[in-house]
Amino acid sequence: MENQAHNVLAMVHLIMLSMWGGVVATEAVIEIYPFRRRELHAATIRFHYWIDLLVELPLVLAVIATGIALLCLTDPVTPLHLVKVGFGGVAVAINLFCIVVVVKRGRRLERGADDGSLWRSSRTVLACFAIGLLCAGGAATLGFRFALERLG
Ligand code: HEM
Repeated sequence: MENQAHNVLAMVHLIMLSMWGGVVATEAVIEIYPFRRRELHAATIRFHYWIDLLVELPLVLAVIATGIALLCLTDPVTPLHLVKVGFGGVAVAINLFCIVVVVKRGRRLERGADDGSLWRSSRTVLACFAIGLLCAGGAATLGFRFALERLG
């Protein structure tokens, strides 16, 4: 029974991760494009603001919830599990920080903030993508290793 719950939760964890990954990849495209077409910057800021609040934030929370539930069902929790949770936790934390930057940037745009500060925030968003991707890669590598062990 516990094994079955673990399998179902792992599947939900993977589905949430895949949806989150797709959203992040799309966001990377809309964030990079204004560096070539500067007139699209304001539109990107507005789109990314709503994508984060309506789509990405719920998905990240679902990844955290399924990850914690999986941790509760994992016995024994090995040091390698903790390394995996560490990578996943840092990736999630960077993403939450990025959402804060995106939301504040969107509000500053509406208040008529100067262009320079908006571009600085956009560069921070790109840095979050790069560092978050490295950590997510570490979590995914270990996660798939656990999945292979589980499935025999
Ligand atoms: C970027 C974020 C993350 C990635 C890429 C990731 C990736 C994965 C993958 C691929 C699996 C294997 C699923 C399966 O067995 O079919 C997994 C399992 C797991 N994840 Fe995550 N995960 C992330 C975030 C988290 C977080 C934040 C936590 C904890 C709070 C967490 C805890 C776990 C646990 C405990 C397992 C089960 C390990 C086992 O079956 O022995 N993950 N993860």
